[in-house]
Amino acid sequence: MLRVTSLLSALLLVVPPGPSRGYFTEERWSPESALLAPRVVIALVCRNSAHSLPLLLGAIERLSYPKDRIALWVATDHNTDNTTAILRDWLIQVQNHYHYVEWRPEEEPSAFEDEVGPKHWNDLRYEHVMKLRQAALETAREIWADYFLVADCDNLLTNRDVLWKLMKENKTIVAPMLESRAAYSNFWCGMTSQGYYKRTPAYMPIRRRERLGCFAVPMVHSTFLVDLRKEASQELAFYPPHPEYSWALDDVIVFAFSARMADVQMYICNKEIYGYFPVPMLKNPPLEPSSLLPLPAKHSNKMGFDEVFMINLVRRADRRERMLRSLEEQELSCKVVAAVDGKALNTSDIDSMGIKMLPGYKDPYHGRPLTKGELGCFLSHYNIWKEIVERGLQTSLVLEDDLRFEVFFKRRLQALLQEVTTHKVDWDLIYIGRKRMQVDHPEKSVPNVHNVVEADYSYWTLGYMLSLQGAQKLLAAKPLTKMLPVDEFLPVMYNKHPISEYMSHFERRNLRAFSAEPLLVYPTHYTGDPGYISDTETSVVWDNATVRTDWDRAKSRKTQEQEELSFEAQNSDVLQSELENWSARDEL
Ligand SMILES: *[C@@H]1O[C@H](CO)[C@@H](O)[C@H](O)[C@H]1NC(C)=O
Ligand SMILES: *[C@@H]1O[C@H](CO)[C@@H](O)[C@H](O)[C@H]1NC(C)=O
Ligand SMILES: *[C@@H]1O[C@H](CO)[C@@H](O)[C@H](O)[C@H]1NC(C)=O
Ligand SMILES: *[C@@H]1O[C@H](CO)[C@@H](O)[C@H](O)[C@H]1NC(C)=O
Ligand SMILES: *[C@@H]1O[C@H](CO)[C@@H](O)[C@H](O)[C@H]1NC(C)=O
Repeated sequence: MLRVTSLLSALLLVVPPGPSRGYFTEERWSPESALLAPRVVIALVCRNSAHSLPLLLGAIERLSYPKDRIALWVATDHNTDNTTAILRDWLIQVQNHYHYVEWRPEEEPSAFEDEVGPKHWNDLRYEHVMKLRQAALETAREIWADYFLVADCDNLLTNRDVLWKLMKENKTIVAPMLESRAAYSNFWCGMTSQGYYKRTPAYMPIRRRERLGCFAVPMVHSTFLVDLRKEASQELAFYPPHPEYSWALDDVIVFAFSARMADVQMYICNKEIYGYFPVPMLKNPPLEPSSLLPLPAKHSNKMGFDEVFMINLVRRADRRERMLRSLEEQELSCKVVAAVDGKALNTSDIDSMGIKMLPGYKDPYHGRPLTKGELGCFLSHYNIWKEIVERGLQTSLVLEDDLRFEVFFKRRLQALLQEVTTHKVDWDLIYIGRKRMQVDHPEKSVPNVHNVVEADYSYWTLGYMLSLQGAQKLLAAKPLTKMLPVDEFLPVMYNKHPISEYMSHFERRNLRAFSAEPLLVYPTHYTGDPGYISDTETSVVWDNATVRTDWDRAKSRKTQEQEELSFEAQNSDVLQSELENWSARDEL
């Protein structure tokens, strides 16, 4: 206030009170003001994104970037869900904060011609998306924007400073590396001569953030920033494809080719965590949806299973909450089954249930007999098998509560179910999460069926599908009278346990067991992870009635050397290429 007044006085040539001229000179020599933030156009081309939009829009609202320096260019069409209404609702509420808003909704039709389903990408659809992005880019050029940010509608930018950070890199095209559960991200390190994804040794170190920086790569897609002030950016185009273009009509490849022809290098940055693909991820900070939108309704189902069981120890409410949340996110409903608390069992309980240990059973790692934890775990699964038989459930899914889901879990499980049904695979049990114990030779594949193998000796019961017939076979073996840990019992039942002495106690070992390959669930915690509970529990059921055992620690003896194996499995070539095929733009 004071400064303005005296400046005004000076301008009006009013005789200053008091101080000398020098005082005024100083006063008028104000430092140069800061520059206005560069002008950015954010382009969103959304389709069937109702599930991720509240999160996406919430993330955009929270960007630490002046909104009056941002223009929004938003198009949506061919929707079968609520995408148009959500975007319209949001834009109406925010439009006055932004410099400019362009809104291009198209209500009809809800599908492209010749389209097999909302997830199907045909040439028409590719071309449509390319034209829209091009229109957005042209608008940005017309309004003399400095930068153009394109983002897929399921790419969640959690880092509020992402725009500033990317601008600082001073590159023509730069993408923030997006995290996912698996190897998938929004860049490639290699490209085949046909313009397709090529695996290279450079990829994983960047993806895992073992190497940090901004790296020149042949492809970035989904979310990236274009600096329109750079001369070469003028030649970039999403559409039409470059005259020399002869590869597949795929928007990301077309654009990468255009960059190549314009001599523009693409860069991927992983200096910080910038954002995610929207998969339930335990370790991520929870992402808040836009507060301007009503909370989206969830429609959970059982995916065609007669029942989805989730085993949870009543006193582990934390795990129950986490699992229920991630199941709800995936719109998968389940029945929570109270686990049998091994801790609460004493020797007389055990006797009264007629439980007897398998003669000669010893834990292969510690040489001890069954722990109370393992007993509780067995009984928990056993009770579910009983329920399956009593209720006559044809197919069920059994999940423990300490697992995390692979990216595209529901979709992939659905595909797997469809495969085994179509090809009439006669299955009793299909693991979806386990630890393979004999990794020196490959498991037998199932003719014509993708992503399913015949199970060899495996540990863990993280997640499995069980048929009615399977449950009947497991109960018929009367396992309580010769008990061993449940994950040793299953391999006995499918006749793949390496210790024939154990198997000799069970006459019929004809369980038809398979496994998803790659697996669809993994343990939440490995040795050394934050939250990992160390394996200190060694009390055994059979010799000490006073010692308490935690049900959920029973597995930890088997997690020791699993860490790396699993990470490798998750990031295997198969998974990478499979995920490339699913593509980032697929609905999750
Ligand atoms: C669709 O979105 C609008 C705007 O956010 C909302 O008011 C409406 O309830 C939603 N409809 C459904 C069926 O979710
Ligand atoms: C950014 O790059 C341009 C060349 O494209 C260069 O002229 C300019 O000096 C760079 N700016 C900074 C701050 O390094
Ligand atoms: C074992 O636990 C039951 C309750 O589960 C209790 O009634 C019984 O007295 C206990 N027996 C011994 C020997 O502690
Ligand atoms: C049972 O466990 C308790 C507590 O660890 C211990 O003090 C006791 O000696 C054990 N009893 C036997 C028979 O091992
Ligand atoms: C991915 O798609 C390509 C081309 O359609 C196909 O050849 C390849 O087998 C697919 N990969 C996987 C893992 O499904």
